Amino acid sequence: MPLSPSYLDEIVARNPIEDVVSQYVTLTRRSSNLFGLCPFHSEKTPSFSVAPEKGIYYCFGCHKGGGVINFIMEIENLTFREAVAFLAKRAGMDPPEEGRADAAGRERERLLALCKAAARYYHAQLKLPQAQAARDYIAKRGLTGATVTKFGLGYAPDGWTGLIDEMTALGFSKEELLKAGLALKHQTKGTVYDRFRNRLMFPIIDVRGSVIAFGGRVLDDSTPKYLNSSETMIFNKRKNLFALNYAKKSKEDYIILAEGYMDVVTLHQYGFDCAVASLGTALTEDHVTLLSKYTQKIVLTYDADEAGQNATRRALPMLEKAGISVRVLRVQGAKDPDEFLKKYGPDAFRSLLDKSENQAEYFLGALLRKYDLTADDQKVAFAKEATQVIASLPNAVERDVYSRRAAEAAGISADAMMAEIDRARKRLSRTRQKAQERTDTAVAMMHQPKERGLRYDDLRAAMAEEGLLRQLVREPELFGRVDLKEAEFSAPILGRAYTAFRLQYEEGRPVGVSSLGEAFTSAELAHLSGVLQKSGDLVNDRALDDYIRIIRESAKKRENTGQSVEDRLRAAADRANRKT
Ligand code: UTP
Ligand code: MN
Repeated sequence: MPLSPSYLDEIVARNPIEDVVSQYVTLTRRSSNLFGLCPFHSEKTPSFSVAPEKGIYYCFGCHKGGGVINFIMEIENLTFREAVAFLAKRAGMDPPEEGRADAAGRERERLLALCKAAARYYHAQLKLPQAQAARDYIAKRGLTGATVTKFGLGYAPDGWTGLIDEMTALGFSKEELLKAGLALKHQTKGTVYDRFRNRLMFPIIDVRGSVIAFGGRVLDDSTPKYLNSSETMIFNKRKNLFALNYAKKSKEDYIILAEGYMDVVTLHQYGFDCAVASLGTALTEDHVTLLSKYTQKIVLTYDADEAGQNATRRALPMLEKAGISVRVLRVQGAKDPDEFLKKYGPDAFRSLLDKSENQAEYFLGALLRKYDLTADDQKVAFAKEATQVIASLPNAVERDVYSRRAAEAAGISADAMMAEIDRARKRLSRTRQKAQERTDTAVAMMHQPKERGLRYDDLRAAMAEEGLLRQLVREPELFGRVDLKEAEFSAPILGRAYTAFRLQYEEGRPVGVSSLGEAFTSAELAHLSGVLQKSGDLVNDRALDDYIRIIRESAKKRENTGQSVEDRLRAAADRANRKT
């Protein structure tokens, strides 16, 4: 059953969008809008806008948008009902009626409860006699009791149904165990068995403190060394970082990004409580976005081996692009931070931290290690590669410093090096110019919706329809002067919005997208928010009449060519399906 419009109106009224968004994004006022760095994509200059009086947000960069409910859905990764419940709680209102929570929301709740119960079970197993090997292993790895407790480490016993038996006794079904990624189904026999057996268990906890998955390590040298829960409704490894729930509370203003569970656990044990790791996957754009919500400074400390260094080279530009300043801590004399800390202790690690290098130093250092600079041909190769690295630095002082350093290392004159770098920069700027030309073409496409399924057939009419909606939302009294029918709109999405707004107006409710509810998809709400955030309209009666005239003309033309509303809907659906 849908939530009542009056309840939704109250949710929206009692959660002013600027207040809610401010809890996630620092906003500054620019005329009637507030602007900030978009929490949904990586950027250095603010393109994320909030319009308090329209009750919407819209990002001019990634085109996400909507009302306050939509914002919470996106940022907290919640369903519509969950977001409403979240906002109800925030405003001290009664929650939406329990029986009305949607099926998906209920299922998520169940899976979260199951993962929490499973974490308790694994942790309790550690105390049993059968877990002696696990306790020995924990001791061998030098983990303290406090660390085991802090991270809720546990033990998955060696049977096939230990977890399943316990969880089904608590009322969870095998189906739910499968859906939570904790059990597997035998392909032929169809029997269900525990995914994790005889492993040291690391609960994976999201930033809200819920257990969403597990990593399990073998107690010996067998493979696979680590096993993760499968991707589930509540666990997406591309969007979660191990220990971020702790690191986000650290007093440090930076975050240490390591490769493995064990590195992070040990780092925390030795006082580096700002350490996190990605979960058996390379760093993703989603990880970067997530990190940039909590810090502007990252220290990368991947493994010393080739794979770790490749991952470092890959992660550096991704983080820098998001405006995060990155330093690289190179672990020396050990294969990873875990081993280093246990061998040399926290003070030695702290001094590596102090010596960590910025991107230019790191890349030049890697080149210096790669080439033998006593051989002439290697010197030339080194100079060539170094030129590329230095030419890409945006800051002239930095270019000067590092070109001198590289020239000295290669035993060539600083002037020759500088001249090469200038040439490389000219080439770079030509490439950038080409990129700019591509952007210009893209701007011509700007007025088309980003979502293919919403494409406008008649751009002129659609622009008038957009302008009309903007005026109506700004001044709902104008509805009294507009007698258009939904079918007269050339763009179905704009026609539906017109009808929904009109209904809000007639029922005496606030007019806008924020309380439209579930009748519109997030993509549609984002599009409508973009429409409402476009500027440059003439606000006068002439404009309103012009819009109506253009819309009517276009409707007449369609009528004459015999194209029905159904035809257009079908065409739009076709386009959405074609999806190029
Ligand atoms: P490492 O093998 O470097 O892990 O893998 P580690 O933390 O140093 O392991 P220990 O010290 O031997 O216990 C780094 C990360 O890659 C993922 C895990 O997330 C691990 O923490 N990984 C590794 C897997 O997912 N599966 C594997 O088989 C191995
Ligand atoms: Mn290790």
